[in-house]
Amino acid sequence: MSKTSQQPNIAIGIDIGGTGIKGGIVDLDTGTLLGERLRIDTPKPATPAAVAEVVAQIVEGLSARPEAPEANSPVGVTFPAIIHRGVARSAANVDKSWIGTDVDGLLTERLGRPVHVMNDADAAGLAEVRYGAGKGVDGTVLVITLGTGIGSALIHNGVLVPNIELGHLEIDSAVAETKASASARERDDLSWDEYAARLQRFFSHVEFLMSPSLFVIGGGISKRADDFLPKISVNTPMITASSKNNAGIVGSALQSLISEQLAE
Ligand code: BGC
Repeated sequence: MSKTSQQPNIAIGIDIGGTGIKGGIVDLDTGTLLGERLRIDTPKPATPAAVAEVVAQIVEGLSARPEAPEANSPVGVTFPAIIHRGVARSAANVDKSWIGTDVDGLLTERLGRPVHVMNDADAAGLAEVRYGAGKGVDGTVLVITLGTGIGSALIHNGVLVPNIELGHLEIDSAVAETKASASARERDDLSWDEYAARLQRFFSHVEFLMSPSLFVIGGGISKRADDFLPKISVNTPMITASSKNNAGIVGSALQSLISEQLAE
């Protein structure tokens, strides 16, 4: 089968994280990966130039596969910070040199093909409402990722409102993610009861502010959801993300095509 624009349902997605950079070829009809994902450790220090090199290696590796999309097709990329018009505007858990970096421009130039960068939680959120736990849900779906920080995505009737930074809400004089992220649980050696109490405070407040229809809980710790979700009491249904590992790859691949179509 030739790789032509009649095949716009396949795209490459790359998920830049604090410890690893992962990429995959995504079948956008199903939201699943075609073949294995590729992962390389995040370079240290994770400067823009060093990260761009690793992203290029992954994209080259994926592009060499027979199932790869066209060589000049757009690539979707996630980044764990506020991304406004392609530029990083925060760096809570990444190298500070990213602030003000045109991530879109940097990667577009390095890869020599269109790149669309978005916030990591936004990508996960998009994947969940299109293919996973939030599919077909009316109203506001809040996807909350519990990891090094707390990421959040707000999707209203299927439309993503980007860069909603609920992890940076100040609750009881503290930035929420410094108390209730998965890394805060490890740092403070919390029991599941203690951790659930912190999450309770966070989710009750967010529920009051946003009146969501559904909370979808993602991040690595969502694998242990049975240990803490039943201990949290809110009126909004809470479910775990369907795509435990690849939501960032899938969501960013999807967004790359949406952005490209909007630009046409
Ligand atoms: C950042 C968010 C990011 C989240 C998860 C937070 O510290 O501010 O932009 O989505 O961590 O990586």
